[in-house]
Amino acid sequence: MTSDPINRRLGILISGRGSNLQALIDAIAGGRLDATIALVISNRADAAGLERARAAGIEAICLPHRAYATREDYDRALVKELQARDVGLVCLAGFMRLVGAPLIEAFPNRILNIHPSLLPAFPGLDAQRQAIEHGVKVSGVTVHLVTAELDGGPIVVQRAVPVIAGDTAESLSARILEEEHRAYPEAVQLILHGGWRVEGRRFVPARFPTSAST
Ligand code: GRF
Repeated sequence: MTSDPINRRLGILISGRGSNLQALIDAIAGGRLDATIALVISNRADAAGLERARAAGIEAICLPHRAYATREDYDRALVKELQARDVGLVCLAGFMRLVGAPLIEAFPNRILNIHPSLLPAFPGLDAQRQAIEHGVKVSGVTVHLVTAELDGGPIVVQRAVPVIAGDTAESLSARILEEEHRAYPEAVQLILHGGWRVEGRRFVPARFPTSAST
């Protein structure tokens, strides 16, 4: 599949702190990412990321998931808000909700997520704690396209982060987070640059020839 030109208007979904949102805001302000954040949506009213967005002059709204009877109803409400702002790419940035078919079908291969491990190791919650408890010596960060499989979509960018003797889940999280803040803007830029395709479960960046053309 060859990707079509991608609309550079981002919709960012958050649930909390919003440091990855901040990294995207800073990358755009610093000229490292050519995009516009059209809308930030949180499912929680107390998400600090809402204030980060407003401080940067970005529209930020809360859509509380509890106000909707089903996950599909909630996803449809998200889609409505995103489409109303002509969003072309959705970035999950600490959004603590499973996304379902209505969102994935409205934005096929146009949703990114960032996860604090080297997937497919340690999907789901508490990835850094899982890494510590497993005893791995290297963990890291993954930015991937979102599919119906939890943390299972095509991998766009990965960066390794060493696990150091004496690390706790907290100290490892902090080290991974620094790498997250570099990786997410890079991955968004790569997606917006276009020319990539998905082959099976692989994300193939623009500069590699297709198997059909070799
Ligand atoms: C990050 O560790 C991200 O990888 C995970 O949730 C955390 C969100 O942090 N999905 P923040 O809200 O971006 O600061």
